[in-house]
Amino acid sequence: MQLERLQLELDGPVARVWLDRPDVRNAFDGLMVTELRRTLFDLGTVDGVRVIVLGGRGPAFCAGGDLQWMKAAVNFSRDENLREAQALADLFFTVYNSPKPIVARVHGAALGGGAGLVAACDVPVAALGTRFGFTEVRLGIVPAVISPYVIGKIGESAARELFLTGERFEAVRAAEIGLVRAAVPPEHLDAAVDGRVTELLQAGPRAVADAKALIREVAWRRVEDVQRYTVERIADLRVSPEGQEGMRAFLEKRKASWVP
Ligand code: COA
Repeated sequence: MQLERLQLELDGPVARVWLDRPDVRNAFDGLMVTELRRTLFDLGTVDGVRVIVLGGRGPAFCAGGDLQWMKAAVNFSRDENLREAQALADLFFTVYNSPKPIVARVHGAALGGGAGLVAACDVPVAALGTRFGFTEVRLGIVPAVISPYVIGKIGESAARELFLTGERFEAVRAAEIGLVRAAVPPEHLDAAVDGRVTELLQAGPRAVADAKALIREVAWRRVEDVQRYTVERIADLRVSPEGQEGMRAFLEKRKASWVP
């Protein structure tokens, strides 16, 4: 697919996807939503790709929904608005549901849907000084389609404060509430992202996809309701080729076949 709103770099097992509308701080319009969803979905199906890094070109990671695009939507019918919102919801679900681990490289600003994108990623790392915010209420709307991912990361308590005030907050606070995994000086951001990528490449590719599915299945549910599923998962994976290779490599004191 020809990409107008993104740049894609393939580097061995690592795919780097860059939001590329720096003039509007990578705010997303319909085309960016479509391109990002398709690109991430497609990368999820490529065997050689084992980790995806999502970042933003220019001074900011992502300023959320394009306000010009959202202004145009004011004149849309309810059905048209439903279609736009569904496309956005599909994008966030594609990020969350990808079989590949997604590391977010966050700098400058991550506001509204940009903060939602961070929440949907697996391992977001932010530069100190990055401004975050669920600013929707200040525009008279709500952080609706991103809410399951954000509440999953920051919990109801922080969401009650931050969704309701729409206030902006800094990377240190984002790390404290669990929206990002780490906040590092900007000059160390790339090294911190590379460190996460290196760790993820130690893990079996099949196991990583299964671990993501496990979290999706188990989070929010009663232990009794998921016990059968967890028992079956571990039993299946112990006898899988990857499970056999991983355990054999450990016992033979060598690296597993998937470790670079
Ligand atoms: N949609 C459309 N355009 C946007 C945008 C958005 N969400 N966010 C920024 N832009 C545009 C600005 O209008 C400006 O355009 P101009 O150069 O034609 O005037 C350009 O991007 C640069 O913005 P500026 O505010 O000068 O950049 P900055 O680096 O000082 O600050 C932000 C960056 C992201 C902190 C700031 O632009 C901002 O707060 N944006 C609003 C984000 C928002 O409320 N998003 C929630 C949507 S639900």
